[in-house]
Amino acid sequence: MKPPTYLKPRANRQLRNRNEMKINIKKLSEEYIKAACLLEKQTLNTAWAEEDIRSCLTCPNAVYYIALDDELLVGICCFYIVSGDAQMINIAVHPDYRGCGIGAELMDTFLGYADKENTEAVSLEVGVENTPAIALYEKKGFIKAGIRKKFYSTGEDAYVMIYKRRY
Ligand SMILES: CC(C)(COP(=O)(O)OP(=O)(O)OC[C@H]1O[C@@H](n2cnc3c(N)ncnc32)[C@H](O)[C@@H]1OP(=O)(O)O)[C@@H](O)C(=O)NCCC(=O)NCCS
Repeated sequence: MKPPTYLKPRANRQLRNRNEMKINIKKLSEEYIKAACLLEKQTLNTAWAEEDIRSCLTCPNAVYYIALDDELLVGICCFYIVSGDAQMINIAVHPDYRGCGIGAELMDTFLGYADKENTEAVSLEVGVENTPAIALYEKKGFIKAGIRKKFYSTGEDAYVMIYKRRY
């Protein structure tokens, strides 16, 4: 199999047409680790190193999903399931692919997994200024439950958000 191409940010971004994409969400495998690491570095201030990402392949508590458009890695979502609790670690979509529902699909994958595992609590942290991510989480049923001061290395505070299941 060819190594996956990593989509470089383009100077002239155009919103992509979702109907032209072949989005497939699946578990991380070795050949996508480099691309996942590059995407994290480009989009997150809490990006993991390659070896941290690779450890998800063997760590029983860590789950790492990727979104592919054909062979291009365009999104990632990583979480821990520990002692019946699910904790989102990172979610990111390539800038050229935002606003097309991929973030929402990755969240559904995370919440579906947490549900199957019968987790009692589902939570995450998000920068207080990260409006798109907060809007995504609220849309998926999370509420703000607290604040962690200077949570990020940038000095930004984080909201703790918890999932309120909708039955
Ligand atoms: C947050 C992020 C993953 C959203 O991914 P996405 O694929 O663009 O999101 P979707 O297209 O699935 O949007 C789903 C919902 O999220 C919210 N949303 C997404 N982008 C938004 C924006 N720019 N402004 C406001 N709300 C937004 C909306 O509620 C949207 O639903 P709608 O389309 O019905 O209005 C993406 O912006 C990203 O990668 N950000 C950088 C990384 C990051 O900050 N991750 C969070 C770390 S805690």
